[in-house]
Amino acid sequence: MPVNIRGRSFLTLLDYTPSEIRYLLDLAKEFKRMKRNGVPHRYLENKNIVLLFEKTSTRTRCSFQVAGSDLGMGVTYLDPGSSQMGKKESIADTARVLGRMYDGIEYRGYEQKTVEDLAKYSGVPVWNGLTDQFHPTQMLSDLLTMEEKFGRLQGLRFTYMGDARNNMGNSLMIACAKMGLHFTACAPKQLFPAPELVAKAQAIAAENHGSVHLTEDVSEGTKDADVIYTDIWVSMGEPEAVWEERIRLLRPYQVNAAAMGNAKPTAIFMHCLPSFHDTKTTIGAEIAEKFGITEMEVTDEVFESSQSVVFDEAENRMHTIKAVIYATLC
Ligand code: CP
Ligand code: NVA
Repeated sequence: MPVNIRGRSFLTLLDYTPSEIRYLLDLAKEFKRMKRNGVPHRYLENKNIVLLFEKTSTRTRCSFQVAGSDLGMGVTYLDPGSSQMGKKESIADTARVLGRMYDGIEYRGYEQKTVEDLAKYSGVPVWNGLTDQFHPTQMLSDLLTMEEKFGRLQGLRFTYMGDARNNMGNSLMIACAKMGLHFTACAPKQLFPAPELVAKAQAIAAENHGSVHLTEDVSEGTKDADVIYTDIWVSMGEPEAVWEERIRLLRPYQVNAAAMGNAKPTAIFMHCLPSFHDTKTTIGAEIAEKFGITEMEVTDEVFESSQSVVFDEAENRMHTIKAVIYATLC
């Protein structure tokens, strides 16, 4: 069946079929090939997009910025403090103003409802650059990276270790279910994804010959995995006070040599980044000082190993975001 997603928003992978995701991945591969070969692709000249960030970003912001510029578009960036949105102007009013000026809107912030409202009121495609609940553009990059490494997605054994109910845990569970992977969340019970979302993901996985499984047992969770994935233990927007409990809960779920050793010898390590794998960041140094640990969700050894594909993932953010912008605007 032909795929056409022109005019659609990209808010969560729950809204997209496996064929539509496949289409976006194939398009991203084509954009990557063009970029690598220096083939110009200014297909969206005369269009303009705006990037709204209520949280900080390196990869997502730069990906939208470079993708927009490669496609020949005008790109406006609004940082957390520099628009009226939310403080002096409602989301609905902001959306109606931006929709009059721009062809598409990227939003990174807190509630999923905000990005949904932007889409509802702006009348133009809205792309979710991360909310507390979901991070769908990251998913395309992760799927593309796995496909590049293994030549397939279907049937891969994927283990996510850490805070399994944050935006990454939720989104990876859905992405794997849509594309027929065997997803395991390996986490303490308190940090399992919400039961309703798990049920939804299990139903989706069943349709696509995949599965969704939750376990607290690290040895069971990492056994024969093709992919081990983790994310920071405390996400943007969470209070500093949660660090102590999160470290206590998640220390056994650190991705280290033992976890990788229990996976397949061909296994890869993935992380959306940024990552606390040493003390070379302000927060990393503060945590080391306060709690006496120098590595958190992943050891420096694993992060820097040949199994680690984290910088391929980071690059693929740009190619996949370009595909989303192009497919929804063109
Ligand atoms: N992975 C990711 O979204 O990175 P940024 O927070 O730097 O955008
Ligand atoms: N869970 C992390 C993802 C960062 C890309 C956060 O929300 O901070």
